[in-house]
Amino acid sequence: MDVLRVQDLKCFYVVESQGRERNVRAVNGVFLNVKENEVLGIAGESGCGKSTLLKSLLGIIHPPLRHLGGKVEYIWNNKPTEILSLPAHQLRKLMWEHISYVPQGSLSVLNPVRRIGDTFKSFIGAHVDLSTGGEQYEELVRNHLASLGLPEDTLRAYPHQLSGGMRQRVTIALATILKPRLILADEPSTALDVVVQRGVIQLLKDIQQEQRNTIILVTHDMAIHANISDRVAIMYAGRIIEEAGVDEIFNNPLHPYTQYLIGSLPRIGDKAHRISAPGSPPSLADLPQGCSFHPRCPEATDACRREVPVLVSAGTDHSVACLLNARGDTNADQANVAVDQ
Ligand SMILES: Nc1ncnc2c1ncn2[C@@H]1O[C@H](COP(=O)(O)OP(=O)(O)OP(=O)(O)O)[C@@H](O)[C@H]1O
Ligand SMILES: [Mg+2]
Repeated sequence: MDVLRVQDLKCFYVVESQGRERNVRAVNGVFLNVKENEVLGIAGESGCGKSTLLKSLLGIIHPPLRHLGGKVEYIWNNKPTEILSLPAHQLRKLMWEHISYVPQGSLSVLNPVRRIGDTFKSFIGAHVDLSTGGEQYEELVRNHLASLGLPEDTLRAYPHQLSGGMRQRVTIALATILKPRLILADEPSTALDVVVQRGVIQLLKDIQQEQRNTIILVTHDMAIHANISDRVAIMYAGRIIEEAGVDEIFNNPLHPYTQYLIGSLPRIGDKAHRISAPGSPPSLADLPQGCSFHPRCPEATDACRREVPVLVSAGTDHSVACLLNARGDTNADQANVAVDQ
């Protein structure tokens, strides 16, 4: 069963440069389905639009970012709710109780002049009536922190008194205390050293197993996806260009870009030089014609320089947007996308 369905979502930063309006196509026709109780990983190079996609899924769309097309449906009790057309107060309610968010660089989310306990209190107070159940609240917070392996005195600490790993655990604790159905985590372990990183990823995994929620996990680090994601979607220049189960994507990557991403991973005992994709990603304000990856693709043909490939099925639970891999059965909904980029 799907929790979230994203259809042809387009969110651009509309910026002025040299007296001209330009569109930075950070989310440029994204199709994505997220299933109940899975960890869906999203990977891709820096600047490809991962954070903008997560914010757009949550309806956090403020200028210069603009929603220019497509929809995001949150499915609850078999009924789809269109997130991007909800009034602000309903969106706020949906957020945190149903959907929570661990933003990128979330260490800065914690107010430096407030004790952690006060941050928890005001956060929960915004969603639960504390006037009748103050003690209940304290117990809820204490139990939750203990279940995440955080000592009780964390609540009396100020953020600067905690290590980076502890602070990240606290932000994850905040995002999960109300047992949301869906958690969107943006590079939750990137700023941390490897050992602490592993702990934070394990923490997310444990929470997901205990609370049975669904996680969308953004990280450019494919090794983390190998470790925690059930399915992986690869993003390139504002679009999802391949999506498959985690074993399938590592064993049978079809898109040349995915092949580079996976081929560049270090392997134990293998001293061969790893090749990363040649060249650099295109400017999202000035995308090449046709497939955005074609200038870097060693296999590009004339058709790749003309046509924007759409995401098509390439086997069970595997889809790819690459003309070299196209095998008919194009999704009719997506066929139009090719012409209007
Ligand atoms: N406020 C803004 N105005 C204009 N362009 C922006 C703005 N914020 C982001 N961008 C551009 O949008 C594109 C996507 O940015 P985004 O932060 O979503 O990428 P990302 O994949 O999350 O990168 P990273 O891996 O570095 O976190 C980038 O080209 C970025 O320069
Ligand atoms: Mg980002």
